[in-house]
Amino acid sequence: MPLNEVKPWGRSLAEYRAMFALSEHDLRKRILDCGAGPAAFNAELSELGCSVVSCDPIYEYSAEAIDARIRETAPAIIEHVNADRDRYVWTVFNSPEQLVEARLAAMQRFLADLPEGFEQGRYRSLALPSLPFKDGEFELALCSHLLFTYSEQLSLDFHLAAIRELARVAHEVRIFPLLEYSGDPSPHLHPLIEKLTAEGDAIHQQRVRYEFQRGGDQLLIVSAPARR
Ligand SMILES: C[S@@+](CC[C@H](N)C(=O)[O-])C[C@H]1O[C@@H](n2cnc3c(N)ncnc32)[C@H](O)[C@@H]1O
Repeated sequence: MPLNEVKPWGRSLAEYRAMFALSEHDLRKRILDCGAGPAAFNAELSELGCSVVSCDPIYEYSAEAIDARIRETAPAIIEHVNADRDRYVWTVFNSPEQLVEARLAAMQRFLADLPEGFEQGRYRSLALPSLPFKDGEFELALCSHLLFTYSEQLSLDFHLAAIRELARVAHEVRIFPLLEYSGDPSPHLHPLIEKLTAEGDAIHQQRVRYEFQRGGDQLLIVSAPARR
């Protein structure tokens, strides 16, 4: 994936905990974070002695190259948030300024951890919908702001293949949010639930205590023992 096609933007462990309703018990599971980008989740959780592998095609690039891309693209993201301020709920963050400060701090945490974490195999340059992991290798797979968020660019078939694969390598899959980048509901959600349910997967939606995109407080949980 060419780095100039990506707008890196990463969240903190605190945001991940809220988005995915992660309990202390969940944090002790073997976790896969897919489409993890420059999130600080891996850095912060590893420091607590937990087990997490992050996958993203951007990990083929160095921390310096990703840092340069963050600096290049952050102004456009900030402009988008400012222009569409009313589509966001300003409780997780009080203001666009606070949002930017928190996200840049999370990404700096990631960048500082990437070289060592890559050597340790905690960051893997991999892309959905195909992962090299064994069936059920992880207890929990997380996917934040990739599936559904990029519904315009990623087809329903891509979403289906990606979720089947995540459900093969992990006992439980949690995906957040269920909205597109624009803030509209993803057109893939209902066809996808119908299709996966027909294939025997157990799927449910859960409201979480995190809403930044207005209406984006729903988590999708998938478990599919038959795929492992
Ligand atoms: C908006 S970022 C989300 C980062 C992080 N999950 C978070 O919420 O802070 C989306 C990420 O998905 C990654 N991505 C794009 N296509 C992917 C694919 N096919 N498989 C895995 N990751 C992909 C991008 O490189 C980007 O880093």
